[in-house]
Amino acid sequence: MQLTALACDLLAKKTDCLVLVLGNQQDDPTLQLSKYIGTTIEGLIKKLKESGDIKETLGSSIIINSPDGLQAKRLLIFSSGKKALDEQSFIKLASKIGNKLIDLPIKDALVSLEDVAICGRDKAWKAQQFSRILGEHNYSSGSLKTSIKKLPSLKKVTLALSSEIDLQNIKQACILGSAIAKGVNLSRYLGDLPGNICTPSYLAIEAEKLAAQHPQVTCKILNEEEMTDLGMGSLLSVTAGTHQPAKMIILQYFGANKKDSPVALVGKGVTFDSGGISLKPGAGMDEMKYDMCGAASVLGVFSVLIDMNFSLNVVGIIPAVENMPGGSAIKPGDIITSMSGQTIEILNTDAEGRLILCDALTYASRYKPRIMVDIATLTGACVMTLGSHASGLLSNNDTLAENLEIAGNSSGDRVWRLPLWDEYDKQLKSNFADMANIGGRTAGTITAACFLARFIKEGAWAHLDIAGTAWKSGADKGSTGRPVPLLVEFLIKEASND
Ligand code: BES
Ligand code: MN
Ligand code: ZN
Repeated sequence: MQLTALACDLLAKKTDCLVLVLGNQQDDPTLQLSKYIGTTIEGLIKKLKESGDIKETLGSSIIINSPDGLQAKRLLIFSSGKKALDEQSFIKLASKIGNKLIDLPIKDALVSLEDVAICGRDKAWKAQQFSRILGEHNYSSGSLKTSIKKLPSLKKVTLALSSEIDLQNIKQACILGSAIAKGVNLSRYLGDLPGNICTPSYLAIEAEKLAAQHPQVTCKILNEEEMTDLGMGSLLSVTAGTHQPAKMIILQYFGANKKDSPVALVGKGVTFDSGGISLKPGAGMDEMKYDMCGAASVLGVFSVLIDMNFSLNVVGIIPAVENMPGGSAIKPGDIITSMSGQTIEILNTDAEGRLILCDALTYASRYKPRIMVDIATLTGACVMTLGSHASGLLSNNDTLAENLEIAGNSSGDRVWRLPLWDEYDKQLKSNFADMANIGGRTAGTITAACFLARFIKEGAWAHLDIAGTAWKSGADKGSTGRPVPLLVEFLIKEASND
């Protein structure tokens, strides 16, 4: 699906469907939908409002076939509700518009959002989010179903502008939004693939495919032998019970001077987490195929870097393993030595994410990153704490944490910060090794982050716990592609600060 912007006359433009989104601040002099839709349509809208056919609730809509006074074959009117719109409600509205459009037997649509204002956000923001949300409708989780799929007929969506002012800017915002949607959809696709297909080796091939698309992207894959030589005893302990070979994937994107210090993104890539010897209960265990969503988000971000050529350097590091029980699997009580030299007593083999991430973080420091962000479906406790609305954020650096919060608010892909205090770190005490791999029953998200913090020697680092946000359970089970929108927004800011 293609999305672009055009300055045009809404009444005269031929289209399968004209979408008018009614604003909620009719007194605002900058909003002028009524000025250019002509009196016939204005009168029609007034009547529909009076009769109650258009309700003043967010996303309420009505469709009119062969409307008088328009070249459009259909007129679809959306209400944006009574309240002033914030980012989240605009994203909800855009999603409802997308749902409607892909259900209609139309090839193209012309959408006017001119009347819609979002507090503190400009037209380019609106265009970017709208094109992203629409682009995300281009994804189906049923790629492995054999039944014939009905593809949406919609091929082209045009954002209608009332003037040429800002047109170039807004076109660019549409391109960016579509590129983010493509990255999100790649991330969702990989997340939704089952563990028997999306193995560590599969992720490695996907990374190589991405690298082949851009002259400034390189990909290196470390095998188990190389990881043994590097001393990655912690990562290797997790893969001990499976037949699937573990991989360490390193993607590098050079968008700036080769010598510029990169931003490192480290994504947890457990392609299936059975829990290992500390086996998880059976119910819902299938969802542990999503335990590689951190890795998928790194690959999604690289897809955007490839399409958009941001001017900064990024290194993506993905420790990819499968966590299985077996005769050679790691056991509770076992003590292993990480690449950093620190020893770890494994008290629960299901706390495996931190065991692969700690070696990946140690390895990442070789690239001398100015910022490190790891992304992981790390703790069930995070789902209890923040539900599916925000990802957990823990960081050793306030500026970095703030920038991630800002990027989250702007993209609607929000985070909420939790503390990393010493009192929590103490919960990791072991009588037999430098630390235990779990911190007891309480504050599970924080103690997991405290564990990771022990492997950060210097520099700004943030950890995103996406256990609650990376996928949806229940009837709508499926990957969300989060936090690709957040990370891209963050990298755009980082690129402009260089
Ligand atoms: N991948 C899981 C975390 C998870 C669980 C994410 C459920 C989303 C939903 C992680 O590897 C894990 O099993 N964590 C344990 C840690 C515990 C043993 C300290 C958990 O959260 O139960
Ligand atoms: Mn686990
Ligand atoms: Zn896990």
